[in-house]
Amino acid sequence: MPQQVQGVVATGRNEPVRVETIVVPDPGPGEAVVKIQACGVCHTDLHYKQGGINDDFPFLLGHEAAGIVESVGDGVTDVAPGDFVILNWRAVCGRCRACLRGRPQYCFDTHNARQKMTLLDGTELSPALGIGAFAEKTLVAAGQCTKVDPGVDAAVAGLLGCGVMAGIGAAINTGNVGRGDSVAVIGCGGVGDAAVVGARLAGAARIIAVDIDDRKLETARSMGATHTVNSRSTDPVEAIRELTGGFGADVVIEAVGRPETYRQAFYARDLAGTVVLVGVPTPEMKLELPLLDVFGRGGSLKSSWYGDCLPSRDFPMLVDLHQQGRIDLGAFVTETIGLGDVEKAFARMHEGDVLRSVVVLG
Ligand code: APR
Ligand code: ZN
Ligand code: ZN
Repeated sequence: MPQQVQGVVATGRNEPVRVETIVVPDPGPGEAVVKIQACGVCHTDLHYKQGGINDDFPFLLGHEAAGIVESVGDGVTDVAPGDFVILNWRAVCGRCRACLRGRPQYCFDTHNARQKMTLLDGTELSPALGIGAFAEKTLVAAGQCTKVDPGVDAAVAGLLGCGVMAGIGAAINTGNVGRGDSVAVIGCGGVGDAAVVGARLAGAARIIAVDIDDRKLETARSMGATHTVNSRSTDPVEAIRELTGGFGADVVIEAVGRPETYRQAFYARDLAGTVVLVGVPTPEMKLELPLLDVFGRGGSLKSSWYGDCLPSRDFPMLVDLHQQGRIDLGAFVTETIGLGDVEKAFARMHEGDVLRSVVVLG
């Protein structure tokens, strides 16, 4: 029997989001219905609401979530009802050219549930990133459910489903930060701070946090930054070079997504160093660099989608490290809110005093 539950829906460009009754079908083959326990509010949800991703309104927002599998459809063997899972938006296919080359973290054919959730009048919903988890229950592909230690707080676990994984993965997967490396992180919101945590976890000797807001720099320090630079008052390229013997950092992680901060990242790295772009640019942004500098400085310029994570490998590992006290993911949860508070959480994002607001469901 299809179920009726409450969910947060964006009905049109810049309309305030509303809590609506939504209809969740029983899981079909390869699908699962998950009872959501917590879901973080991410910038991408706001971009959906603003029409910045596509025009497929109405959207069922929310995609940084953890919960309990309630039911599964035919052929599902990896998860079962009662499992505690983090939802991912990288359910790998196992058959595309990336998967077949043994690089499933780059899977080019990820999948979501086939059936649609709807409004009461039958209007089909577009779930954010194929998840739609600002809802009491949601329907996903079973491959989007990653089992982790059920002892972890759901509000913390859910964050690994998007932003925190993107940041940690930018450092440990894409940037391949190693013991003794110097790392600079430009932009210290939730994603940048997670990159700081990842760099520390990987054994970076020096972690330089750069932001234009002193409050953000303070938080970055509490997450493991060894040095901070306010780039509103100080040239960050000069400062990073000074802090690295005059050379630049081995790995620079750009977690803003703007041409000017990318340029800083490009020039703040050492020769043969690595730049990782994890901040998401907008379509009109352009980058101009002397091609000779691109060639002459060597190294690698990489982008990091979802932290190049492989959910089945990375989610359980990071939950375990958190449970052992070796990383503190709880520090990313600034506030817990209800389903009706998502619009307010979007407003708070702009004020810059929130790493993550997390919707917690009863
Ligand atoms: N130089 C340095 N830091 C900057 C600059 C700048 N020119 N402009 C903004 N920042 C800082 C902000 O002060 C803030 O601390 O970048 C940080 C951005 O943080 P959030 O807005 O909290 O964003 P976050 O969730 O961390 O995401 C960062 O990654 O996933 C993408 O879409 C996301 O592009 C965004 C980026
Ligand atoms: Zn694939
Ligand atoms: Zn997200």
